[in-house]
Amino acid sequence: MEIFNNIGKINSAVAVLKSRGLTVGFVPTMGALHKGHLSLLQRSKDENDISLCSIFVNPIQFNNKQDLEKYPRSLEEDCRKLEQADCDIVFAPTVDEMYPEEVKIKYDFGQLDKVMEGKHRPGHFNGMAVVVKKLFDICLPHRAYFGEKDFQQLMIVRELVKQKNIPVQVIGCGIIREDDGLAMSSRNRRLSPHERSIAPEIYKTLLWMKHQAGKISIDQLLQQARQKLTSHSEIKIEYVEITDEESLLTVDDWDSVRNIRALIALFLGEVRLIDNMRIK
Ligand code: PAJ
Repeated sequence: MEIFNNIGKINSAVAVLKSRGLTVGFVPTMGALHKGHLSLLQRSKDENDISLCSIFVNPIQFNNKQDLEKYPRSLEEDCRKLEQADCDIVFAPTVDEMYPEEVKIKYDFGQLDKVMEGKHRPGHFNGMAVVVKKLFDICLPHRAYFGEKDFQQLMIVRELVKQKNIPVQVIGCGIIREDDGLAMSSRNRRLSPHERSIAPEIYKTLLWMKHQAGKISIDQLLQQARQKLTSHSEIKIEYVEITDEESLLTVDDWDSVRNIRALIALFLGEVRLIDNMRIK
């Protein structure tokens, strides 16, 4: 496994591999790797000759300074995990390497970045899109792998690729969960043992919503789902939404769109967790 920190060097190395006719799969991450990340890498390995993983805690996608400071960083351990998982190339640049100058780019994703995460984390998706576009330009992948764990992010990356005509195939991958249903996340390691014991309620609520879909009104379902979650005093809900998967706009009728997804964001103590599930 080769580790690069320099943009010019990784860019030339990938160009050489591509000139030999090899296909390149790319998994962008912010590190603190877990089985969710490694599942994306496995999918990339199954579908490409060369798999490349980036590790970069992207400061411009954090709207909260404390969240950025507390974000877990474990580069050496991450590289060990990637080596074991047979990753070919790691790109782990510094902030100065990625952003030698102030970033001024502003994207317009229409309604996609105005709702849910976009509403609660101003600037988050613009910062995410800036780094993903930059990483695509540097790493030149044929395919890029993103988790449905960050469903809204996946939709916005697809829109970015369409808007900018980036020649990359974006592949969405299913959510990897702990045995008790909690979606794997780098943030889970910040939960206290007590908070960790409550965290699977998010998954249980999503499953319950799926079970109830079509049986009661969407309004009733939302109200009861919120009640279930807030019966735990440690939970503070940011949003519980039921949306059209394509547009991410809220739906108020079970039959108005083809695929309906429930999405949840909440604070458990000081840790912000998100999860989602297709419920119809
Ligand atoms: P990060 O949170 O490290 O996630 C990297 C990728 O792993 C994302 O595509 C995310 O959806 C996926 N992922 C995380 N947990 C997962 C799980 N439990 N199951 C399946 N996939 C999971 O998302 C980011 O980093 C950043 O925004 C990034 C795209 C790297 C841009 O900075």
